[in-house]
Amino acid sequence: MLKRSLLASYFLLITLFISAQEKPPYAIPKKFEGSNGAVVSAHPLASQAGLAMLQQGGNAVDAAIATQLALAVVYPGAGNLGGGGFMVAALKDGRTVALDYRESAPGKAFKDMYLDSAGNPITSLSLEGPLASGVPGTVAGLFASLKYAKLPFKKLVAPAILLAEKGFAITQSQARSFNGSKPDFLANNKKNIAFVKNTKWKEGDLLIQPELAATLKRIRNNGADEFYKGITAKLVVAEMKRSNGIMSLDDLKNYEAKERTATRFNYKGYEIIGMPMPSSGGLLLEQMMKMIEKRDIGKMGFQTTEAVQLMIEVERRAYADRGTYMGDADFVTVPVDILRSQKYLEQRMSDYQPGVAGNSKTTKEGFVKESEETTHLSVVDNEGNAVAVTTTLNGGYGSYTVVSGAGFLLNNEMDDFSVKPGAPNMYGAVGKAANAIAPGKRMLSSMTPTIVLKNKQPYIVTGTPGGTTIPTSVFQTLVNLLEFNMTPYEAVYEPKFHHQWLPDEVEIEKGFNEITAQKLGKMGYTLKARGAIGRVELIVITQEAGRKIIAVADNRGDDAAKGY
Ligand code: GLY
Repeated sequence: MLKRSLLASYFLLITLFISAQEKPPYAIPKKFEGSNGAVVSAHPLASQAGLAMLQQGGNAVDAAIATQLALAVVYPGAGNLGGGGFMVAALKDGRTVALDYRESAPGKAFKDMYLDSAGNPITSLSLEGPLASGVPGTVAGLFASLKYAKLPFKKLVAPAILLAEKGFAITQSQARSFNGSKPDFLANNKKNIAFVKNTKWKEGDLLIQPELAATLKRIRNNGADEFYKGITAKLVVAEMKRSNGIMSLDDLKNYEAKERTATRFNYKGYEIIGMPMPSSGGLLLEQMMKMIEKRDIGKMGFQTTEAVQLMIEVERRAYADRGTYMGDADFVTVPVDILRSQKYLEQRMSDYQPGVAGNSKTTKEGFVKESEETTHLSVVDNEGNAVAVTTTLNGGYGSYTVVSGAGFLLNNEMDDFSVKPGAPNMYGAVGKAANAIAPGKRMLSSMTPTIVLKNKQPYIVTGTPGGTTIPTSVFQTLVNLLEFNMTPYEAVYEPKFHHQWLPDEVEIEKGFNEITAQKLGKMGYTLKARGAIGRVELIVITQEAGRKIIAVADNRGDDAAKGY
């Protein structure tokens, strides 16, 4: 029996190794339909690593852990060991899990740490180099989620070690991204790093990361303590000292992942479960869904002027609340009960006028826009568990600083705080005291890992990267499915739009309904074309004609859906 399972693990690792060395364009499956389990993530090799765990008897949490570890190797722009994230799970026994492994501000951090002597933000400091990094939460989060998993960590980390040690063939978009980021990598690292080479990267080149492989092996052998107290912790602090960083061994030693109570609300009979503070995602989604619930948007139709205007106006109102009231609830009082109450939300919509453009001047407060480089994965297994995980380094490649000797990138999550409450940051956005910097505090996030239950069973598992566009993308995906009766493919692939109170404009993706855009323009809205919005990873499980899983990977990137 044991021999058979060892042989199976070996075979699955060999399969992964062969796929890793394949020359792109290798298969990037966008869809999977089946009945056992599925994994959707930002990279085919990471989805494959998660699938291998499901096939070896692991559950959705095992697959989510292995996928995250693999993403830390094959998707270095956002997959990470040096960042943080959130896991929302609906377990087969009916329990829900909301695990917070968001980064926290180092002990020496203070409110005005990114301001010059005249009180103006020095944005480069909160965005690049070790001073931009919060204390990483990912490794603590992976080990905290192990209690819901079945397989030993050494099995879950094996694909990641293999991919880091032997290397994998990079995709065209990764080659472009490494080449484009070279100046930032060079500016923020004093030693050689795996992502920089003398010649240009091209599709199919092997990325080998021996230092990262060694770090993963130390974590495999010594657990989370290795990252927070061991050699890895010392290497992180040495990296801080090489430059202007302030993270200390104590900061690392004191970091812990926190179990929170998931946000939960009812929308027309569906139970929607999400992430609470320090993510604004769960609450924003609830506010937006509840503000449309009584207005029969389904009858208005997808991307009609009527439906889009309603969605813009609820987005405007929810995001105005975000900037004022939301922050780490362990540090500030967030009036969650009021913000989600029916009475408050009705009052919020009392000045909504169909056919008349709203105006952010008359809506009170602001927001902090975040970088859009984050990553999401959705997983379901054949036991009835569902997991949605969103993790991030914040910007693409985070602070651009690789911990020398440890081979992983550090986040630049400190920029998700309001660097100067009340003043615009580098994106022209403003935030408030609720999200001001304080030692140990976690910066406000928009990440929105979400699970929808139907008849108490997981029905939709979803989430996306995209900074402040995350909650609006999840909102629109759910409305597409629950109100416009779209197929899962349409729900992900149809163009999206985004309004976040300030700037007072509607961002639209290529392909957005032109007639609707013209009508909204005439009504007084400012529309702005932009690139892709989000990269939604969606799984829908229907039970009506026997259990059926439909997994969809967004076509806006290298994202891949795999299952069995
Ligand atoms: N850094 C992106 C987010 O946490 O929302």
